[in-house]
Amino acid sequence: IGQNLVILKEVDSTNTFLKNMASNSKPVPEGTVIMAEHQFAGRGQQQNGWFTEAGKNLSFSILLKPTFLQADEQFALTQVVSLGVVKALQNVAGNDIKIKWPNDIYYGDKKLGGILIENSLQGTKINYSVVGIGLNINQETFPPHLPGAISLYKILHRDYDLKALLSDICSHIEGYYLQLKSGKLARINEQYLSNLYRINKEMMFRSAGEVFNGIITGVTARGLLKIDADNEPKEYNLKEIEFLIN
Ligand code: BTN
Repeated sequence: IGQNLVILKEVDSTNTFLKNMASNSKPVPEGTVIMAEHQFAGRGQQQNGWFTEAGKNLSFSILLKPTFLQADEQFALTQVVSLGVVKALQNVAGNDIKIKWPNDIYYGDKKLGGILIENSLQGTKINYSVVGIGLNINQETFPPHLPGAISLYKILHRDYDLKALLSDICSHIEGYYLQLKSGKLARINEQYLSNLYRINKEMMFRSAGEVFNGIITGVTARGLLKIDADNEPKEYNLKEIEFLIN
């Protein structure tokens, strides 16, 4: 991953760019990475935008071809990618870097980055995946409407070499991706859970307008979040549950 690297000065979204490349007739090798110094229409999860200061942060997309996965096994890829990102960042900023389910990157209670995976299916299998990763690295300040955002700079008060970090993240993702390819699903899930934000800690949630106390106990194979509330196990998808952080 990352051997074939294209760096763009400016693009709407590296995910959109790579999706267009991959759906054209000329084959794009697996592991190709498109990185942008600036995205003017970055996209986030759930139809949100993704905004970062130009030249300071990491915005890139990786082409993977996990044709060994069924469409309903997509969450395994989410786990692999979040683990790779978190492990690479833990090496520079320590173990307070966590995965907030399903695939946000957190430091303490603040968001350091996010992941947007877009899969192209062929029948019941995945044909290819565009894995978009956005991380706040050298940005020193955030606008007031983003109080929950943080960067590596704000944590460590120094600048990082974006390309060196990119290559480190790519090799970590590759390691986990190869584990997945060789069928080590249980091991990946175990590592995902041991790096999950607020696992096994009592906290407040909101679902369907109702606020309640519960404990995250794990995730299902399809990526639902398992929460125990009043000793009753429940499962939620991303749209159904909100974390109430302080
Ligand atoms: C989220 O937390 O909502 C996901 C954010 C994903 C942002 C990255 S930046 C590189 C790639 N290109 C995009 O347009 N989005 C992803």
